[in-house]
Amino acid sequence: MPMCGIVGYVGQKQALEIIVAGLRRLEYRGYDSAGVAVISEGELEVRKKAGKLANLESLLGTDPLPASTTGIGHTRWATHGGPTDSNAHPHLSEDRSVAVIHNGIIENFSELRDELTASGVLLASETDTEVVAHLLAQAIPVANGDLPEAMRRVCRRLEGAFTLVAIDRAQPDLVVAARRNSPLVVGVGQGENFLASDVAAFVDHTREALELGQDQVVAMTAHEILVTDFDGAPVEVKPFHVDWDASAAEKGGYELFMLKEIAEQPKAVADSLRGRMNKESRIQLDEMHMDEGLLRSINKVVVIACGTAANAGMVAKYAIEHWTRLPVEVELASEFRYRDPIVGPDSLVIAISQSGETMDTLMALRHAKAQGARTLAICNTVGSTIPRESDAVLYTYAGPEIAVASTKAFLTQIIAAYLVGLYLAQVRGTMFEDEIRAVFTELHGMPEKVDRVLDTTEPVRALARDLSAATSVLFLGRHVGYPVALEGALKLKELAYMHAEGFAAGELKHGPIALIEEGVPVIVVVPSPKGRAILHDKIVSNIQEVRARGAVVIAIAEEGDETIAKHADHVIRIPAVPTLMQPLVATVPLQVFACEMATARGLDVDQPRNLAKSVTVE
Ligand code: M6R
Repeated sequence: MPMCGIVGYVGQKQALEIIVAGLRRLEYRGYDSAGVAVISEGELEVRKKAGKLANLESLLGTDPLPASTTGIGHTRWATHGGPTDSNAHPHLSEDRSVAVIHNGIIENFSELRDELTASGVLLASETDTEVVAHLLAQAIPVANGDLPEAMRRVCRRLEGAFTLVAIDRAQPDLVVAARRNSPLVVGVGQGENFLASDVAAFVDHTREALELGQDQVVAMTAHEILVTDFDGAPVEVKPFHVDWDASAAEKGGYELFMLKEIAEQPKAVADSLRGRMNKESRIQLDEMHMDEGLLRSINKVVVIACGTAANAGMVAKYAIEHWTRLPVEVELASEFRYRDPIVGPDSLVIAISQSGETMDTLMALRHAKAQGARTLAICNTVGSTIPRESDAVLYTYAGPEIAVASTKAFLTQIIAAYLVGLYLAQVRGTMFEDEIRAVFTELHGMPEKVDRVLDTTEPVRALARDLSAATSVLFLGRHVGYPVALEGALKLKELAYMHAEGFAAGELKHGPIALIEEGVPVIVVVPSPKGRAILHDKIVSNIQEVRARGAVVIAIAEEGDETIAKHADHVIRIPAVPTLMQPLVATVPLQVFACEMATARGLDVDQPRNLAKSVTVE
């Protein structure tokens, strides 16, 4: 499953309330079905339902669960088996002794299922998860009733990626979990403990957490947490403090998480810049822990990322190449390791990921490491896998991003990648100190500029409503405007379920211009006429080409660019900023446009169909 939500609780309180509240926080991770299991009077009680969490909540209203202080819960994004009641988690063993929830994919499940079927076990679902419940029930007596040991035995037989959490009706005060290539964090409370795929699930109760490593099993009671590897050897785990509180993961008066997250962008950008230039006006990324000698020795930068994060990487390419004169390649992580990429000890590979759990990016990162490359993660989620496995990490400080469509993560990824570029320029001496200071000062002014864009979104909203019946929208840009166009199109596709494509404006005449017909909206990110005038002139020509063929042109253009008005049907104004800063302001109206368009079409903005917040399978 690309990204299911998992919650486990053991303590003194009513488990069900805590679990359902946790699932509500995690629903963005998957929302095809949901379920819970608790132990009461020596029996496992399960309720599960296809559809959103609300369906499970209604079921719990009509068919309540008994009181219990131990339980597990799950919200699912279906892969093996459709989103039905029976495929929803938790899954029970045949004898109803064990309940299991799972995130990930068990690759050797058909082999294990055949083995179980041959031994007479009847499977009740089409999922890969259910095999684990049966295997666990068989392993418990072999392990003399020791649930953690049984879990280790089962895990040693599993291939693929998984977070598994299990409870056993015979051990009502114990929750056991295992992790391989899939997220799992432990929340450490007072007389209660939590397990979840994301700290958001328990941050109401505790902000103290433990990062689990790969191939580890955790056994948790209300007062004790024991972690071992898959062979049973105890391992030390790293504690961390969650530096945001529960309100950060709530809508806080906004109708949608996406609207809240769009509005949070000025703060997110400011937070991601804070403390990163010292009193001597030098870029200071001490927490990155990357040796300066090493940074001087690299001869290329490779960015690996997916979706929005890849678009942020493409923006950064223009800046990093300009500032450092190092070649920067940007590669979709899902393609990287399958094409024999040329990376080695002289390459700096930057993995950009909001969640830090995207499997395509993780696998690409591992491939880069195996080739000897130096690796740096730009990530928003402390304690996640990608930063853990990278040589160095630079965190973005966007705060939790809950809406599936990425917004504030994009802006802060650009900021972080720019900081890396400036730092490389500083270390390698490719920019003068005053030049670096000037860029940093520009960056520092961006929160206020983004704020101004946010204050003037009504025209773009009105346009989105007017165009909501369109069947296709094209986005054009040049230079850094090109990845912005890609990002605008991605937002519209995922939210409004509409054909939307971003193009380098100069490329249009090589084929895609055939898509233009009367009335097609074309959104053009117009470069600053003060940056490189030629880029502005060229895009004006590109606008004329599409307009001559009937397109309705919406220009995203800076204040003071008066020439554009006569070439466009609509002009959305953004503050005038230097060329490399423009993505930070030009993207915002495109986010608002997609959000409003989806709303006008009556769609679920925060949880678009077929998607999950991040994808933890390849
Ligand atoms: O968590 P990540 O940044 O690694 O996620 C990468 C993409 O899956 C993500 O950006 C996706 O494209 C967004 N839904 C786009 O809005």
